[in-house]
Amino acid sequence: MDVGIDRLGFYTPKKYIDIVELANERGVDPDKFTIGIGQSKQAVPDIYQDAVTMAAEAADNVLDDDNRSDIGLVIVGTESSVDESKAVSAFLMDLLELPEDVRAFEIKEACYGATAGLQMAYNFVAMNPDKKALVIASDIARYGIKTPGEVTQGAGAVAMIVSKNPHILKLENKSVYMSRNVGDFWRPTFSKTAFARGKFSNEIYVDFFTTLWKKFQDKYGVTADDFDTMLFHIPYTKMGMKALRTLDGKIPDDKYSELVEHYQKSVEFSRNVGNLYTGSLYLGLISYLVNGEVKPDEKLMLFSYGSGAVGEIYSAEVVSGYEKYLDSDFIKQELKNRQKISVSDYENIFSKGLVNGDTTALSDVHDKFYLSEIKESERLYKKVN
Ligand code: CAA
Repeated sequence: MDVGIDRLGFYTPKKYIDIVELANERGVDPDKFTIGIGQSKQAVPDIYQDAVTMAAEAADNVLDDDNRSDIGLVIVGTESSVDESKAVSAFLMDLLELPEDVRAFEIKEACYGATAGLQMAYNFVAMNPDKKALVIASDIARYGIKTPGEVTQGAGAVAMIVSKNPHILKLENKSVYMSRNVGDFWRPTFSKTAFARGKFSNEIYVDFFTTLWKKFQDKYGVTADDFDTMLFHIPYTKMGMKALRTLDGKIPDDKYSELVEHYQKSVEFSRNVGNLYTGSLYLGLISYLVNGEVKPDEKLMLFSYGSGAVGEIYSAEVVSGYEKYLDSDFIKQELKNRQKISVSDYENIFSKGLVNGDTTALSDVHDKFYLSEIKESERLYKKVN
């Protein structure tokens, strides 16, 4: 029985800043940000948005009357959660009108969370073929104003419905993984912004890729020639390229060129949104499926990495005719219809946030789901009717 991704949805906030304007404000050569880092635009979440509202938006794009009642597992991967106890998935139960007979919980391991969720979902559906799983990656990547990481911020969510006989991606149940205690990136509970040893995190990321790729080849007796496309965790578009470049000169030149060409298609959306943390790899998948010239039954290798650190490489196969199940036009329109804001407006939003006793005026809301109030330190959410 084939198990994999049946539906894929994406959400990113409606506001963004231009990276050239950010570079100019910070007194940096714009080429450093657009070429050296590889970003063009950065999503800016509104003050009524967080990991819950963005998860709800992405999932709302893939749930319908047919699949909602089949959901038996809801997993949210996030490293920007809103509560130390209550899972993001609990808030989604009524926002998304999910059936009560589900296991709903949250997973954290930096940018690896959604991959952990996806692999659990695979096992769940394999054991319960008539059920479906909803896996959501939702994050706000924040390093802070005028920090080196500022250019690599972003926000958004990806939702995946995992089922038998999937219409988008078959997971092949071939994977290798590794974990190591590494201090490359962390966010203590007192802080809204992350701490990172940026260059060290690059080194670890590349090391994990090299180690896992060798392990994958040895375990399954495959080479790069067995794959049409390699997708990477993309905190910023230059980063995946650093891993891909390790293959230059080690695999046939035409295969390397093909992988680079496909990589460029996979980072188009990230370049215009920024870091989604745990959703980044899956935004890369969406970007490739929407923007690439994907062959029927294409073989993919996916490299997931979460600082701290956990890495995994697994393989998958694109299902022929997936285009009918992925709303490419909607995703392109959502990205196109966003509003550019100034760097000072972004700084203003960045420093604000609802505190206990605050409510959100409906007239300020430009999305379907929003944080309506914080009352007795409890976050309350609403859906715009
Ligand atoms: N024109 C073109 N390129 C230029 C340039 C110019 N004028 N000036 C500099 N560059 C290039 C540099 O050569 C460099 O390229 P390489 O990386 O290929 O060497 C690149 O621009 C960046 O330059 P620097 O290394 O000097 O930049 P920096 O010191 O400002 O740091 C950064 C860059 C390390 C990515 C920093 O933005 C950062 O710390 N970001 C946050 C950490 C991060 O994103 N880590 C990876 C994520 S790990 C993860 O995803 C976390 C998770 O699991 C949650």
